[in-house]
Amino acid sequence: MEILSPTEEGIARAARALAEGLLVAIPTETVYGLGANAFDTRAVARVFEAKRRPTFDPLIVHIAELDGLDEIASFPNDLARRLAEAFWPGPLTLILPKRERVPGLVTSGLDSVAVRMPAHPVARSIIRLSRVPVAAPSANPFGYLSPTRAEHVARMLGDAVDFIVDGGASDIGVESTVLDVTGERPKILRPGGLPRAAIEEICGPVDIIDRVSAQPTSPGQLESHYAPHARLDLVEAGGLAAAPIGAEDAVLFFDEASRRAFHAAREGNLAMAARGEAQSRMERVLSPSGDLREAAAALFDLLHAFDLEGVERVWAERLPSEGLGLAVNDRLWKASTKN
Ligand code: TXA
Ligand code: MG
Repeated sequence: MEILSPTEEGIARAARALAEGLLVAIPTETVYGLGANAFDTRAVARVFEAKRRPTFDPLIVHIAELDGLDEIASFPNDLARRLAEAFWPGPLTLILPKRERVPGLVTSGLDSVAVRMPAHPVARSIIRLSRVPVAAPSANPFGYLSPTRAEHVARMLGDAVDFIVDGGASDIGVESTVLDVTGERPKILRPGGLPRAAIEEICGPVDIIDRVSAQPTSPGQLESHYAPHARLDLVEAGGLAAAPIGAEDAVLFFDEASRRAFHAAREGNLAMAARGEAQSRMERVLSPSGDLREAAAALFDLLHAFDLEGVERVWAERLPSEGLGLAVNDRLWKASTKN
């Protein structure tokens, strides 16, 4: 595996590698993707293998320009086109009717295909130069946390990938919002980097899939997705003060106000103070000022760091369920269901 800088030369090398059927991890504004030429079934098969991902879980195909859509999918209605115009390039994945040419391996045999045009300039340049649509799931082993830095990819996938393009930390930090626009009414299959309210401004009320329903429509809804190695316990907002946190456990606060309230509540508790728990515990704050975008961008990075430290148990609190808080709560909830 070789790490490439996002220079003109590195980008050209990455594009050539993709066209030649190699695997290239690319930076996007959501998370890093593990890219392969979507038309090359051998390369796509290697993606599933590298991730140890079951082939019933379909991939997202990435394009650089709207011109590139026609060879892989079509807009089923005007609404789909309007959403693409409004939010591409960006953190929105649309489920669209697929063209015959897209291999069934990419879509797990479905007659729809997930399509996204990322906004990250490095990703777009690589895809444009490669002249192929790029099938790219998040560049992590199946079920584990998504990578938001090149180092995360290197550590998790190593030589299972041919190149990693280092484009720095992902700005958004959670995966794209997956929206199914093939039905009567758009349906969010996975909350993500594009907030629901932004979508509803364009197309009115959208459905959102019920996470606890028995039959997942999108395999991304499988519960044990996005999980760190550590056990994660999720409590209500502000609920950490009352949680039975052990001295070795790590704590993930939403904001600084919440961390302060936690300490104020627990310092009054003499038994806890006597155990000296505060000194030894690892504490992290997603966003000191309580900014949901900042919290989303920090989430996977902090969880990766806990795993690197060998933390066995993490306590986290829910964020406000608005904007990117919905996606963060979704990932925390999924991570907690692994327990
Ligand atoms: O931000 C992202 O979306 C990142 C970057 C790399 O683009 N990619 C990503 O891919 O998160 P992945 O494979 O980890 O998640 C894709 C999700 C999965 O939940 C998959 O089941 C769903 O999209 N999906 C793909 N094709 C689908 C289809 N035809 N119908 C329904 N769901 C689909
Ligand atoms: Mg993934």
